[in-house]
Amino acid sequence: MSDWINAVAVGDLPPGEHIVVEVEDAVMVLFNLDGEFFAMEDICTHDGSEISSGCIVDGSIECPRHGARFDIRTGEVTAPPAYEPVDIFPVRVVDGVVQVRDDRWD
Ligand code: FES
Repeated sequence: MSDWINAVAVGDLPPGEHIVVEVEDAVMVLFNLDGEFFAMEDICTHDGSEISSGCIVDGSIECPRHGARFDIRTGEVTAPPAYEPVDIFPVRVVDGVVQVRDDRWD
């Protein structure tokens, strides 16, 4: 089973912000959405762009390349041209630190 990795201190990722974290072989976008933390892979399923440089719109991240949107909580597509969801990852907070885990190969 994959290990939990310390990503960022809670206080360093305010609500509405997101950052990129590298966890083993995965590059993730870590979000603080209204005080809750979520992580998704930083690869747009439309054509492989980094979605981390996009904007957050109504709880979704918008890919800067062609405008596909993905629900930050679930990874599901909320606007085309993508039609496949992005991978999301488990997130937890321990002692004021946000931790993530790449559980795709567990
Ligand atoms: S690469 Fe993201 S919408 Fe096309």
